[in-house]
Amino acid sequence: MLEKAQGLPADQVFLDLEDAVAPLAKPSARKNIVAALNEGGWGSKTRVVRVNDLTTPWTYTDVIEIVEGAGANLDCIMLPKVQSASHVEWLDLTLTQLEKTLGLPIGGIGIEAQIENAAGLVNVDAIAAASPRVETIIFGPADFMASLNMKSLVVGALNPDYPGDPFHYILMRILMAARMHDKQAIDGPYLQIKDVDGFREVAKRSAALGFDGKWVLHPGQLDAANEVYSPAQQDYDHAELILDAYDYFTSEVGGKLGAVMLGDEMIDEASRKMALVIAAKGRAAGMTRTSSFTPPSA
Ligand code: GLV
Ligand code: MG
Repeated sequence: MLEKAQGLPADQVFLDLEDAVAPLAKPSARKNIVAALNEGGWGSKTRVVRVNDLTTPWTYTDVIEIVEGAGANLDCIMLPKVQSASHVEWLDLTLTQLEKTLGLPIGGIGIEAQIENAAGLVNVDAIAAASPRVETIIFGPADFMASLNMKSLVVGALNPDYPGDPFHYILMRILMAARMHDKQAIDGPYLQIKDVDGFREVAKRSAALGFDGKWVLHPGQLDAANEVYSPAQQDYDHAELILDAYDYFTSEVGGKLGAVMLGDEMIDEASRKMALVIAAKGRAAGMTRTSSFTPPSA
């Protein structure tokens, strides 16, 4: 399974020591993960290990064994069920100790914080700001639903009894904290792995808000994830067009204009900022333009 993950078109891969590993299997899982990280083959993927949360007896040993064994081949530790800034501070200090002892670059290993219960969400601003190592805030919908006593077993799905999206507030709250502190916001898993349409539907909601991506649990969900979090070709082309047109019209030769018409649309500095977001997502996804900007002839 670890080998298969290496060849998949995902930006990141995380190797789990938490909920996908039975308590008695944790020691052997640590060893397998160290070996998998050191044997390489992960290409440019971000390599992440999810340790157990700080209410368990395992977190300390997880972090020590993984970083001592494979710290040079690890990009981030994912900390689940983070409830307060102190959890992140503990991990930050422990990583610093390990990096100093092992001669690794200080601060080199990042932190991904999973928000999975009410305490985590209420404290999400402080969690995002707790360490410069924090790169990503991740929504953990399954644990979150359980912790709130939500009356549903389908992660992320709408509930016909509720006239709205029960996850809207949670997603938006995480996104606000992530954007305020310049972190990535990532949506969590969709458990019905055969139901790709269901995955797509849930993913579209967090993508529409501005989330940067979503977990996939199975290769079958990958194409849908890459498609949903990348802009549509038409939107990407349009964003690049706005950027070129705005560059031209604000220039000396273009007339030093601040607000201009592009077809039927008025564009200004705010349009440029929105276009930058879409263009950046498209470029990151390796998209190519299918149209170009032609300055009006004098
Ligand atoms: C992921 O960890 C989740 O609980 O959804
Ligand atoms: Mg969880």
